[in-house]
Amino acid sequence: MRLETHLTEDDLARALRDDARAGLTATPKTLPPKWFYDGRGSELFERITELPEYYPTRAERAALTAHATEIAEVTGAKTLVELGSGSSGKTRLLLDALHRHGTLGRFVPLDVSEPALRAAATAIDADYPDLDVHAIAGDFTRHLEEIPAGDGRLVAFLGGTIGNFEPAERARFLAGLRAVLHPGEWFLIGTDLVKDEATLVAAYDDSAGVTADFNRNVLRVLNRQLGADFDPEAFAHVAHWDADEEWIEMRLRAERPMRVRVAGLGLDVAFAEGEELRTEVSAKFRREGIAAELAAAGFEPVRWWTDPAGRFGVTLARAASR
Ligand code: SAH
Ligand code: AVI
Repeated sequence: MRLETHLTEDDLARALRDDARAGLTATPKTLPPKWFYDGRGSELFERITELPEYYPTRAERAALTAHATEIAEVTGAKTLVELGSGSSGKTRLLLDALHRHGTLGRFVPLDVSEPALRAAATAIDADYPDLDVHAIAGDFTRHLEEIPAGDGRLVAFLGGTIGNFEPAERARFLAGLRAVLHPGEWFLIGTDLVKDEATLVAAYDDSAGVTADFNRNVLRVLNRQLGADFDPEAFAHVAHWDADEEWIEMRLRAERPMRVRVAGLGLDVAFAEGEELRTEVSAKFRREGIAAELAAAGFEPVRWWTDPAGRFGVTLARAASR
């Protein structure tokens, strides 16, 4: 197993400082979701995937279980690249199907969370002795060009992580991915689907409080990395369904007025009682919408599947000729 890193300590520290300064001085205050995922954040996400309320992981797994063989037959992929790979749990369904199909030689997981990436790549390397595992610690908004060259590549972006982009970032990401693929290469994308508000809100506000802990983890990251003095328990977890945008917004609401010192930025940040810091959007999709966005970026959707209950969509698309 090789692990190549494009995230030096200096680079990560600079990116976090820039994002924190921009987000904490904006109105309303925001932070990008990628900073949830230190070692603890990645573990909390794994716990979320097992919660009774959090259906997306189970639903996507059901769709992949039913269709992995077809994905292998249609794509005949030689290399499987996975963006935002995390634990690569569901990815094993694809690895198994491609292995059975006899074409797969290489697996390239890419994730910003190096602890999660290392653990997953090491386990896959041990379980698939014939596979060349080439892990990339990187940011999928900056390092798509580091995906190893080749042909016959299938890029998987699972979990609905595309929903954590806002629409303009999403279009940039899709165009950037299309630009590094050759015509005829493949993209497999998981998207959570629009459904009733109660189901959606429960998935992001579970009764055990794991998602609340995950949400507050971003404050712990700022405390450790930027010498901030946030009191995470002084912020309430909020999961709000925005029916116009068709996304869940996770926020942290200050329960009292606070002044937070962020020593690493030389910044004092004032929170009014009730003021909310937006930490994530999680967009929900419709089949026509995702097909149109893929087409606009130069992908041709060729298959669409959902789990039996129709909660989560998986699209297989081909990079179109220009
Ligand atoms: N694909 C897995 C994990 C989803 S959680 C699944 O379906 O269960 C989202 C993953 O994306 C995390 O592992 C997180 O570390 C990673 N991630 C978030 N922002 C990222 C970015 N900008 N670049 C690379 N990885 C990112
Ligand atoms: C990684 N991403 C798709 C998850 C989601 O559902 O948007 C992150 C998450 N946030 C809260 N719970 C899970």
